[in-house]
Amino acid sequence: MSIRLADPQFGPEALEAIGRVLATGNLTQGPVVAEFETAIAAFAGATHAIATTSATTALELTLAALEIGPGDEVVAADFTYPATGNAVLQRGATLRLTDVDPETYCIDPLALEAAITPSTKAVIAVDVFGLPANYGALEPLLADRGIALICDAACSLGAAIGDQRTGTFGIASCFSFHPRKSLTTGEGGMVLTNDDELAGRMRRLRNHGSERQQWRATFVEPGFNYRLSDINAALGLVQVPGFADVVKRRQELASQLSVLLGEIEGVVAQVTPDGHHHPYQAYVVTIDPSLDRDRLVMALRERDVESTLGTYAMHAEPAFQRATVTLAGAMTTSADLAARTLALPLHQGMSQNDLTTVAAALSQAIRSQSPSAS
Ligand SMILES: Cc1ncc(COP(=O)(O)O)c(C=O)c1O
Repeated sequence: MSIRLADPQFGPEALEAIGRVLATGNLTQGPVVAEFETAIAAFAGATHAIATTSATTALELTLAALEIGPGDEVVAADFTYPATGNAVLQRGATLRLTDVDPETYCIDPLALEAAITPSTKAVIAVDVFGLPANYGALEPLLADRGIALICDAACSLGAAIGDQRTGTFGIASCFSFHPRKSLTTGEGGMVLTNDDELAGRMRRLRNHGSERQQWRATFVEPGFNYRLSDINAALGLVQVPGFADVVKRRQELASQLSVLLGEIEGVVAQVTPDGHHHPYQAYVVTIDPSLDRDRLVMALRERDVESTLGTYAMHAEPAFQRATVTLAGAMTTSADLAARTLALPLHQGMSQNDLTTVAAALSQAIRSQSPSAS
């Protein structure tokens, strides 16, 4: 059987939790969503949680609640899953892309400083593969200029800088519960914020811009339907109590895999700065420029090891070649990482044996590309 990049596993308690929701007949956003929100907010140490249908809609909701739209500019890290930029373009705002750090893959604060213009209303920093962005530098930089910092925390539940967990940096943080994430509801997302007013606005916008008094809703402003269902929330809720252990297990596996990969020439893992706690939503390496990453993916698959590219350089994708996208520089690092990063299997169900298989398969795949092998 092949070793998968991610492999969500559920016990009988998940089926029981879903069964309980089905028995109530309440299949949309209801008490279980509220419980799930409370549990995630408590886990991260945030005041408010607003569940949504995905991280993408969580980002859109945040931008809408901040009244970001046509004429406003949002600066975002270029090296990310394109949902980050799509959310900005769907709001009709201008997307300005900025480059990232070659070791952490996260937004480069110096490049960001140079990218900001008088029209910049918000910045989206991405916690790439779960590693928290450099919030120690970003928060003061943007606070001094009155620019909102939005954290694309799609991958970073369980991450921290020191003892401060993600979900508490910037004005708001947007999480994903997609099946490749460490905690999944199938599809789902959540915004965490400590801002009371923003939270209220997001709750209203999530549900058609409506407010309810007793049995009647009043439609206060044009909104969305970004409600999560109680069925999805039930699936998420059962995973919260064990989630800190899941993160710990992923961190242990990641450090074991790093030791094994340390023996292989041409492979450098994403760097975790001191004091940052990486939850390893994905374990990603940069491979030597002399190697062909795409051929490595194919060669690993032939050895029953699933792998894929790290993530995308948004500026290089056709959707982002338009007038409402501007580039702050040449995006050299992001382009390089998009070509040279490789995501390897890492999930809490893996054994030491699986790690050895992954490392051996990568070593063989690399050797098969060396000039002497051809
Ligand atoms: C950095 C980042 N942002 C946003 C998203 C979108 O998440 P979702 O699928 O929940 O909309 C992803 C998904 O992989 C992601 O990796």
